[in-house]
Amino acid sequence: MKEAVLEKDKALVLRLRAQLLDWYDAHRRDLVWRRGARDPYRVWLSEVMLQQTTTPHATPYYERFLALWPTVTDLAAAPDEQVMAEWAGLGYYSRARNLIKCARAVVSEHGGRFPSSEAELLKLPGFGPYTAAAVAAIAFDQPANVIDGNIERVMTRLYVIETPLPEGRPQVRDAAAQWLTDDRPGDWPQALMDLAQAICRPKAPLCMLCPLREGCLAFQQGRQAQFPVKRAKAAKPRRQGDLYLIVNGDTVLVERRADKGLLGGMLGFPHSPWREDAVPAQPPVPGPFTRKGSFDHIFTHFALMQTVLLRRIGDTEASEMLRQRNDWQFIPVAKGRELPTVFRKALAFLD
Ligand code: ADE
Repeated sequence: MKEAVLEKDKALVLRLRAQLLDWYDAHRRDLVWRRGARDPYRVWLSEVMLQQTTTPHATPYYERFLALWPTVTDLAAAPDEQVMAEWAGLGYYSRARNLIKCARAVVSEHGGRFPSSEAELLKLPGFGPYTAAAVAAIAFDQPANVIDGNIERVMTRLYVIETPLPEGRPQVRDAAAQWLTDDRPGDWPQALMDLAQAICRPKAPLCMLCPLREGCLAFQQGRQAQFPVKRAKAAKPRRQGDLYLIVNGDTVLVERRADKGLLGGMLGFPHSPWREDAVPAQPPVPGPFTRKGSFDHIFTHFALMQTVLLRRIGDTEASEMLRQRNDWQFIPVAKGRELPTVFRKALAFLD
């Protein structure tokens, strides 16, 4: 059964809310997407990027996208390949594909203007509850209930929500809803995010500086370090597989991974299926391969022991391979640093 969150006193909530917004006015981060007028396109673009990465990493990508495509109409008209190339380094390509689809839907279905209601935004490609609430609040000043991992942390502490996350999310939602008003609805979630980043930090929160301290049950009970409570993680299954480094001079073979599934749409080295049982692996091209060693890599849902096999080939064989498969390409070994971590680790076996 759902443990109900305590209702906080309304007058207290309003007073603390005003204190946090004052704090935000004095200490808000100067992030590029916060400058200038609030444009739904810019808000949307920044929020999609920030779901993928941190603010420092997202900033140059955001600036480049805006320089290339200043409006959603420009982005909708961009060639897919160019958008995908600019997205490289930000992670999942499925998000970039949705970005293009969404821009085109805004142009074709809404005349180039984002709809302003959370419900209409939610119907757009790539929009989930977080993005819809964030754009409705930040771009259209609607009192939408924006909840990300940072706001979750603040709410679980304010209300000592004991139910582990993710099961405790409905309570987090109820708690956060108590703070929504028509006063500065766009600044409110951003104030919470900045508070979470600067003060209500995961470790060693700076409670003595916190404008919400007076209403924080975790602080009053001296238990801030215990929240958020997270569900115990199940032991990860162990999988294994062979990975193939096929090297031609200063270049190495990579393939474009299938859109769906782990590391979907990204470049990576060919490898045998990652499986729990050991099955004889079939290299993508005939041997001889040299066994270079193995390494461990932890994914969200399994732990991998990856064996690395190396083969050096000449130009003729390389050209022949490229004729066989159009998802294969040779990239400079130095460029391998931009590949997903599991593949970067394999590069260390190249001597
Ligand atoms: N993280 C995601 N969206 C953000 C925003 N608008 N401000 C600060 N941090 C964020």
